[in-house]
Parts: sequence; structure tokens; C-alpha cells
Amino acid sequence: MTHQDLRTRRLALAGHGAVARALSTLLERAAPELAARYGVAYLVTAVATRTRGLAVDAADATAWAAWPDLTSFLADPDAPYDVLVEVTTQSPADGEPAASHMRAALGSGRDVVTANKAPIAWHEAELRGIAERTGTRLRYEAALMDCLPTHAIRESIVPVGRVHSFAGIVNATSNAVLSAMAEGRSAAEALADARRMGLAEADPRNDLEGHDAALKATILANLLLEPRELLRPDAVVRHGLEAVPDEWPAEAVRRGARVRLVARGERAASGPAGSGFAGPTGRSGETRTPGAGPVDVRAWVGPEELQLADPLALVAGTSMALRIESEHGGRLQFTLLDAPVEETAYAILMDLVALERRRD
Ligand SMILES: NC(=O)c1ccc[n+]([C@@H]2O[C@H](COP(=O)([O-])OP(=O)(O)OC[C@H]3O[C@@H](n4cnc5c(N)ncnc54)[C@H](OP(=O)(O)O)[C@@H]3O)[C@@H](O)[C@H]2O)c1
Repeated sequence: MTHQDLRTRRLALAGHGAVARALSTLLERAAPELAARYGVAYLVTAVATRTRGLAVDAADATAWAAWPDLTSFLADPDAPYDVLVEVTTQSPADGEPAASHMRAALGSGRDVVTANKAPIAWHEAELRGIAERTGTRLRYEAALMDCLPTHAIRESIVPVGRVHSFAGIVNATSNAVLSAMAEGRSAAEALADARRMGLAEADPRNDLEGHDAALKATILANLLLEPRELLRPDAVVRHGLEAVPDEWPAEAVRRGARVRLVARGERAASGPAGSGFAGPTGRSGETRTPGAGPVDVRAWVGPEELQLADPLALVAGTSMALRIESEHGGRLQFTLLDAPVEETAYAILMDLVALERRRD
């Protein structure tokens, strides 16, 4: 393929933290293969951060002055970018301002790829509506479980029949903390490690209090269980590590078990209110009373003591896993062994490549 045959895709990066930096490195390393296999060259033409503002690499230098802020840039059909990569800090309460960035990009005819789960969990129906209207695409593999391919599960592995339920260890930081506590190390030490690796959320309460896991449970429930009406994060019952007494993880090891923060979802005929949390004595399988929520699908997050016979108990440290039970496909479990931030960047690249494939 000659240089002239290459299709250039201009990327606007909203946010330039750990994930965006890892993506830039990956795009550089993978550039020859992306050109050879897909005929595409990615070019970062805009970068915005909260403290440093917006920088645009436009052919026309006067363009620098044209946009007062990121959202105006993203909403401008003439702004020099084709795809928004949304990797700003997570805002679990409402998904803003990331959701507004996505509305502006989709509304002005651009595809969006994101690692940011809150805007998807809160606003997926609206964002999908805009994408449908403008013929654009929204992809969010990186928002779920890094490069553990959740979309491929629905599209390729369970293309027919219902997914009845899922159970997952979906937050690497809280899992690393619980694993460290089981070995008698302190939670603070394990959290510091996760921060050094670029894994922890900017506000670690998002990980430790289960907010991140609850947002993922919302998205997984909507993706895998296909409710009549999309589930919202406030319908997911949430308990985090505040419900784990210091001694519980090590005591569980002595009983031949492990404490894990588990996200669950299932289809249900009716939806009684309640708490999914069974407390330190709770055992796997006893915590199945879901929270209030829309009718046909329920999801919840909380610490559970899992016997070692349960493969989720063996998912330790920064690993994550997802188990599904489906109508025709039986029970399947997928595990991502260790999840450095580079794998989040890789999941973004998976989505960028998927956009190119569909174009042909
Ligand atoms: N790290 C992981 O392993 C991982 C895994 C999966 C998903 N994610 C998700 O990916 C996203 C990014 O994570 P990260 O680890 O890269 O975060 P990070 O290192 O904290 O970086 C966040 C970036 O967003 C920028 N930002 C925040 N608010 C902004 C705004 N209103 N406008 C423009 N830029 C803004 C920050 O700017 P300043 O630097 O100027 O403050 C910073 O550059 C988060 O939504 C996170 O939940 C992360």
C-alpha cells in the first residue's frame, strides 16, 4: 500500500491522562501494522485537558482562536477531527462533562470511542438516539473490562438466544486491594500500588465504594441482558469495600474461600426491592436478592465470600473476569489476567479498528 492510499483519521483526545498517554504510545507502535492491514493512519489533531485547555493542530493557524472551549470545538462540523476519543476523568454521579462532549461530537457527525463509563451508564439511550439520527457510531469497549471483549461476547459468542445472567469481577483496583488484605497487607499499601500502575480512578472512592463497578454493572446489564427499558445506575444496589471488615479477607482464606467485590445481573420476571449484600458471613449464591429497578432486569454490586470451587474466587490482584449464563450457550467465563493501563488503551484501539472495518 502506498502512502497515498492511506486514509487519515483525525483524533480529538478529550483528556490526556494515563489512558490517553498509553494510547498515543500504542498508536505510534502499531502505526505500520495499521497502515498495512487496514489502510489507516491515525493523527491526533486536538488534545484538551481540564487545566491546560484545548490545543488544536490545524493546517490553518487562525483556527487556534476559533473555539472558546472543548464542547464548541467538538460541535463544530468544520473543526479538524473525525473521531472523538473521550478519556476525561470519570464523574460517576451524572457522567458530565463527558456526556456533553459526546453529544457534541455525535451531533456534529463524528464517531465516538470512550473509556469513560459514567456517560454510557447514565445516557446511553440518548447518545444512541443522537448517533442514529446522525449516522455515527458510539463504541465503549474500554469502559467495561479493558480488552476483555464484552461486545464480541454479545455479537459473536451469543449471537442467538438470551443471556440469563452475568457475574463479574469488574474493578481491578478493588480486587487488588481485597487480594492484598487477604495476604495481611494493608488496603492503603495496595491502593498506592494501583495508583502507581495508573489503574486507580482519580478519586479512589469510585473504585473502593463500588461506584465504578455499579456503572459497569449497568452497562453490562443493558448490553448482555437487553432490558425492555435501559437500566440506570441508580437502580443498581451498591455496596463497596466499606462493608468489608479488615479481618474478613484473611479469615476467608483460612476457610478456603476468597472475598471478592462481585457485580451481578439477571433477567427477572418481577423486581422486588432489597439489598444484594449478605455481609461478612454471606456466601456465594446467597446474595441474590436484587435491588429495585426496572421490571425485567436487575443488577447489584457487593462483597461476597466465594468458595474456591467458584472460578471467580481465583481471579486475584488486578485481574478481572466475566461469567455469563445463556439460553443456548451454557455457562462461559472470560478472564483478563492482570490489567495494566496499556490494555485500556488497546481496547480503545480495538474500537477504532472496528470503526474502520464497518466503513468498508
Ligand atoms: N486508568 C485505567 O486503567 C482506566 C481503565 C478503564 C477506564 N478508564 C477510564 O478512562 C478515563 C481516563 O482515565 P485516566 O486514568 O487516563 O484518567 P487521568 O489520568 O486522571 O486523566 C484524566 C484526564 O482528563 C482530563 N480532564 C478532566 N476533566 C476534563 C474536562 N472537563 N475537559 C477536558 N479534560 C478533562 C484531565 O485533565 P488535567 O490533567 O488537566 O486535570 C486529565 O488529562 C476515565 O473515565 C476512567 O474511568 C481508566
